Amino acid sequence: MEWWKEAVVYQIYPRSFNDSNGDGIGDLIGITQKLDYLKKLGVNVLWISPVYQSPNDDNGYDISDYCEIMEEFGTMSDFDQMLKEAHKRDIKIMMDLVVNHTSDEHQWFVESRSSKENPYRDYYIWKKPNEDGTPPTNWGAAFGGSAWQLDEGTGEYYLHLFSKKQPDLNWENESVRQDIYKMMLYWLDKGVDGFRMDVINMISKDQRFPEGEDHGGTYGDGSPYYMNGPRVHTFLQEMNQQVLSKYDAITVGEMPGVDVEQAKRYTGNDRNELNMVFHFDHVDIGNGKFGKWTPERWNLTELKRIFSKWQKGLEHDGWNSLYWSNHDQPRAISRFGDDSSLYREASGKMLATCLHMMKGTPYIYQGEEIGMINAAFNKIDDYRDIETLHAFSDFQENGLLSKEQLMFAIHKRSRDNARTPMQWSNTKNAGFTTAVPWIPVNPNFQEINAEKALNNNDSIFYYYQKLIQLRKQYRVIVNGSYELILEDDEQIYAYTRKLNEQLLLVICNFSKEKALFQLPKKIQYTNSELIIANMDIDVDACIEEIKLKAYEARVYHLNVLEEQA
Ligand code: NOJ
Repeated sequence: MEWWKEAVVYQIYPRSFNDSNGDGIGDLIGITQKLDYLKKLGVNVLWISPVYQSPNDDNGYDISDYCEIMEEFGTMSDFDQMLKEAHKRDIKIMMDLVVNHTSDEHQWFVESRSSKENPYRDYYIWKKPNEDGTPPTNWGAAFGGSAWQLDEGTGEYYLHLFSKKQPDLNWENESVRQDIYKMMLYWLDKGVDGFRMDVINMISKDQRFPEGEDHGGTYGDGSPYYMNGPRVHTFLQEMNQQVLSKYDAITVGEMPGVDVEQAKRYTGNDRNELNMVFHFDHVDIGNGKFGKWTPERWNLTELKRIFSKWQKGLEHDGWNSLYWSNHDQPRAISRFGDDSSLYREASGKMLATCLHMMKGTPYIYQGEEIGMINAAFNKIDDYRDIETLHAFSDFQENGLLSKEQLMFAIHKRSRDNARTPMQWSNTKNAGFTTAVPWIPVNPNFQEINAEKALNNNDSIFYYYQKLIQLRKQYRVIVNGSYELILEDDEQIYAYTRKLNEQLLLVICNFSKEKALFQLPKKIQYTNSELIIANMDIDVDACIEEIKLKAYEARVYHLNVLEEQA
């Protein structure tokens, strides 16, 4: 069994994790200082969001040198020290690999834009303007405006699917690919254990560059021509053959717009591409006319259908990654649970139960293990995220959404909800920094912080610790097949996992009302044992009928006859 199938990953957003030198920004030494905390939690791998040199237009997702460390985060020797200390504790390090685009300040782009004859010209995607001077296609960029930026010096447009400071690399160019593989080898030879690959399903563009579909917005939707594009599998197989296959590395591809069938092609057993993908189906639930900026209500039955589709779809081929949140998503409890003080802890534990008992590799986003919730700042000036700030001005400018509508959406879905500093203690700035933090601390840090969680045996932290231990203890959590039960129930998410005669029964009440669970008749068992619950309950109570409290979660381990479905 591949080791990464049994691992639990913890994501660190370094800027907001722990500031060791009092400049208001988290750093590498800050991460090293917290390794014992992470060891105590029990995670096996740290995915570290980009720490490379960057002008920080998109907080490090715009890289100007792949082999240098961002000054604000420290030095290469700080990095080496962190890696060594992590390995000493048996914790692996997964780097963020951002190779769909670079920063416009990367030397390759500086050269590329300098003249049409420069050897690096073809490292990026340049096109002549249309006859009337307009951009080559109508595609919109993720952070607002056209996906094409005119370079005055050479009179051509370059493609940028994100901000104009993030020009897309031209993967058709063999030298680009070779330079990227060389850089990956540099990090792997240093001892890192794998890569989380940023928007890696966007690296192959349809070379015809067709017009995007009109969805009623200012720009066309070009995604059919760059998501899961024509040569993406060829490129990933080449990367695997030349780099990844030589190491026992963990790889996960971030893939907006990926479906189950495509995911099988990326992660299938004999495909030699990636270990697993991040899909967006569950985090996009409730997206309205303008996506996350027009959030709508969602149903539990739909959420269950999404998870079940992925659980069943990759059951025999491929592998799932499991996540509720990351640095691009709001806090899990605010999004899928209930962040009122009454239900925060219960719903946080319930969500963790629901996800960690599924098949796949679970990812925990920093602060999730102490139940951090959305920031909901009143003033737009307190937000820092390029996507949030662009949406706030663009939608008002073109008259599509009002300021009130936008603030409502930002409170619910802005990426900055996840980027406020990690809350370590109830001291100044939540113990994150002694200086003014780069983004305000969530004012609830007196109530929600790691120190408090560590001092309370009943905290969300220890609940996550237990979930991680259970995964090590029960093979059925890693390998068992998944079956949804009570499919139409709008309050309860219940499913089973089965491996030979072992059956896990996972029961989660997603609502703040009481709910009645009734065990389907087809589940026949000889004995049952409660292995985790988020509330005090009678461990010997019968499981045929359970009166669940608000946000209650329980997992039972049952012995069944092997032939039972
Ligand atoms: C996905 C990353 O997770 C996000 O933070 C970033 O803005 C875009 N890719 C562009 O790199």
